[in-house]
Amino acid sequence: MNILIIGGGGREHTFAWKIAQSPLCNQLFVAPGNAGTAAIATNLALGVNNFDGIKAAVIEHKITLVVVGPEDPLVNGIHDFFLADGDLKHVAVIGPQKEAARLEGSKEFAKEFMQAQNIPTAQYASFTAATLAEGLTFLEGMKAPYVLKADGLAAGKGVLILEDLQEAKKQLIEMLIEEKFGAASTTVVIEEFLDGIELSCFVLTDGKNFVTLPMAKDYKRIGEGDTGLNTGGMGAISPVSFVTPAFEEKIQQRIVLPTIEGFEKRNLPFVGFVFIGLIKVGDDPYVIEYNVRMGDPETEVVLPRVKNDLVEVLLATAKGELDKITLEEDPRAAITVMLVSGGYPEAYEKGKKMKGLDHPTESILFHAGTKLAEGQVQTSGGRVLAVTSFGNKYSDALKTSYSTIKNISFDGMNYRKDLGFDL
Ligand code: AMP
Ligand code: GLY
Repeated sequence: MNILIIGGGGREHTFAWKIAQSPLCNQLFVAPGNAGTAAIATNLALGVNNFDGIKAAVIEHKITLVVVGPEDPLVNGIHDFFLADGDLKHVAVIGPQKEAARLEGSKEFAKEFMQAQNIPTAQYASFTAATLAEGLTFLEGMKAPYVLKADGLAAGKGVLILEDLQEAKKQLIEMLIEEKFGAASTTVVIEEFLDGIELSCFVLTDGKNFVTLPMAKDYKRIGEGDTGLNTGGMGAISPVSFVTPAFEEKIQQRIVLPTIEGFEKRNLPFVGFVFIGLIKVGDDPYVIEYNVRMGDPETEVVLPRVKNDLVEVLLATAKGELDKITLEEDPRAAITVMLVSGGYPEAYEKGKKMKGLDHPTESILFHAGTKLAEGQVQTSGGRVLAVTSFGNKYSDALKTSYSTIKNISFDGMNYRKDLGFDL
């Protein structure tokens, strides 16, 4: 069969790498893809929200399975678009429909869902411009740090954690009245601060049955020791050493099962990946957020640890037959180190020539922000390349990635040298 992956980052290159290994995959396309996907698939120069362009490509290339990487097209209803179109409705789409994608698209919707399903999460209240005065009073009744979240998608920047009450009040006013995050902060969720260590749990569901993928942990801050600005993710590791069988059982019983039950009960059409952002407080898991897609860079360590034929798994998902699938995990540890552009996550330059990508290595190189120009691989984003390695221990995997990185260079290249420091 012919398959299309939508997106162009490290996550999508990893999907392409895994799907290309399946004997069920005939031709593979990625829209828009990057220099890494160009080497194993055909890139289509289409934006992820160009639904009409995607439709034309699906028909032209006789594509029958579409895997949606990022949240944006899902929140914009790409799956609904396929279902509503006579020419497309036979195509299997991996990714939830619009109503279910609100779990990521609206923090308030996600909190209501968790409350209704009795899923452990931080206490919260939400406010709009009309209830600003109540919001300010609510903040006065809370303890620092104050957690303020723009309700809608804000490119990962919509969460503020503030130590000072006056600053929190000022930010609440800016979000609600001055639309600090545009329409995304028309509603603001204020939450209790949870103190603990974060991890990512990934579930693939057909809406009724599900499989749980390997757990992972990402490293979001730019600086060593988890300091400095937030990024899209500087690296990831799987498995997560503090996830004992007993803790995993709590995640299953208290969080995964009631989440999937909630989809059925509330008629949320969810065929795809659920990314549950968790925090371990004491010995108990709490949900920080839902995403309706795989994580990036977690995918770069999670999919390599899945031994199954991914196309077979995705087809079972689309058919509602995930109960027939048992996932097999590679017992080894996987780690990915993200190479980023100098200056990232603030302003950075693109178009830097990359060297050493063809040097022999035991690692797998997943391109994140790269493009082919003048016959050469150049940087084209903040996060540039994810260097994934396996090892019997994660420290061995880490050594392999760092020795691979020694042979790779581009102007301004930066990366974290301390991944796994907290485990
Ligand atoms: P979110 O976009 O909801 O994942 O939030 C971004 C980051 O803010 C999370 O990965 C956490 O590190 C942090 N965060 C969000 N909510 C809370 C909370 N209630 N308590 C502590 N940290 C939080
Ligand atoms: N690694 C976090 C994310 O994909 O949102």
